[in-house]
Amino acid sequence: MVEEKLNDVASDDKRRRTERIGVPSPTPLSGLISNEKSRIDTGISEFNRVLGGGLVRGSLTLISGEPGIGKSTLIVQAAAEIASRIGPVLYVTGEESEEQIKLRTDRVCQVGLDRLFLLAETNIETITAVTEAMNPSLLIIDSIQTMYSEELESAPGSVSQVRACANELMRIGKGKDIPVFIVAHVTKSGDLAGPKIIEHLVDCVLNFYGERNQDLRILRAYKNRFGTTSEIGAFSMGESGLSQIENLSESFLEGMEDGAEGYVASAIYEGTRPLLLEVQSLTSPTGMGFPRRTALGVELSRLNMILAVLDRKAGISLTDQDVYVNVVGGLKPEGTSTDLAVALAITSSFRRIPGDRHTLAIGEIGLTGHLRPVQNAEKIVREAARMGFSRILLPKKNADRLNELPAGLRLIGVQSLREAIDEMKQI
Ligand code: TYD
Ligand code: MG
Repeated sequence: MVEEKLNDVASDDKRRRTERIGVPSPTPLSGLISNEKSRIDTGISEFNRVLGGGLVRGSLTLISGEPGIGKSTLIVQAAAEIASRIGPVLYVTGEESEEQIKLRTDRVCQVGLDRLFLLAETNIETITAVTEAMNPSLLIIDSIQTMYSEELESAPGSVSQVRACANELMRIGKGKDIPVFIVAHVTKSGDLAGPKIIEHLVDCVLNFYGERNQDLRILRAYKNRFGTTSEIGAFSMGESGLSQIENLSESFLEGMEDGAEGYVASAIYEGTRPLLLEVQSLTSPTGMGFPRRTALGVELSRLNMILAVLDRKAGISLTDQDVYVNVVGGLKPEGTSTDLAVALAITSSFRRIPGDRHTLAIGEIGLTGHLRPVQNAEKIVREAARMGFSRILLPKKNADRLNELPAGLRLIGVQSLREAIDEMKQI
């Protein structure tokens, strides 16, 4: 139960208000000036790309992620860059002490420390006052769940507080035309007062994720009023903070070994670039009870569908097998271009067919067992050639449309999953 205060303005008052301020007149679109050019470079190109080409002035950006994943580290690195090149940055911390942040910035930031201002504060009214007085070129709130407004009685982190604080931040940001970053924690269970309740209000929702025991961190936009939501940014968490991964495909593929069973290289198209990755699978006879299906990076429902198609359309029945599937690197690809690789990796493990490091497979599997074409196949094929692949299994429709191939590359167009499996056996 959440308390909502009623705001009882009499309709009389409302009428008087319109009389006082008059009726505003709408503007034609052609008369508006877009400030697209004035995007702020965060100094981190992976970050810029996810934002759609830099930070828009007056925009509100929510950065969500599990506690400890590296949100504060990312933000402080961008803040230092912006401070050094654009102007003073106000970093409001409600979680860590100034000393703690100092320790971190000393380690991860090389520039801009003289213009990066810290404020350990959780009262949103005080933060507004400081922002008004200081006029920073960027405001950072870490995290929204620790902030509170005096006007409400509920505890920080509650639905009404989070919403009130976000509204206030929007007012400051739009009023002063400065970008505002809001850090928000989400837990695996996705608690109620999490960032979900303010997603509609902000301009961008970014999610920062990764496996905690691995270095890879992915930044992805779930909502972006100024760009696409299909871009991802890749980082590696190390001794001195986050560093950008320029060639993500390379790091995803480095573990592939000829002769091993149960792996197939595949590719997805994220935003403006193809990304190559490795799909692994292991099947093992079920000991007792129900067979297990465990998928990392692939949706379980998708895996079940692929298993059903393998059974009915390719004669590979896994009803007495546990099946594990893993997209190496902790990435969760969206889209269906990895379907074929998932099916082939499972088949490779089950039928003991050794994998081939120079073959890549893409294609969406339909319920009929036929392969559907993938988008941007040409760009994927070129990237695969660049990365040293020499054979590409792909839907026939895609293969037919491609000409002028890079030298030394063989395309194998297949119509169905069964055909693809036959091809794999011959390789
Ligand atoms: P942090 O940015 O505090 O996470 P969040 O704000 O999302 O809660 O980062 C937390 C973890 O990152 C911390 O447990 C250790 C790791 N880390 C490094 O490995 N190297 C570094 O240079 C920094 C700053 C953090
Ligand atoms: Mg933090």
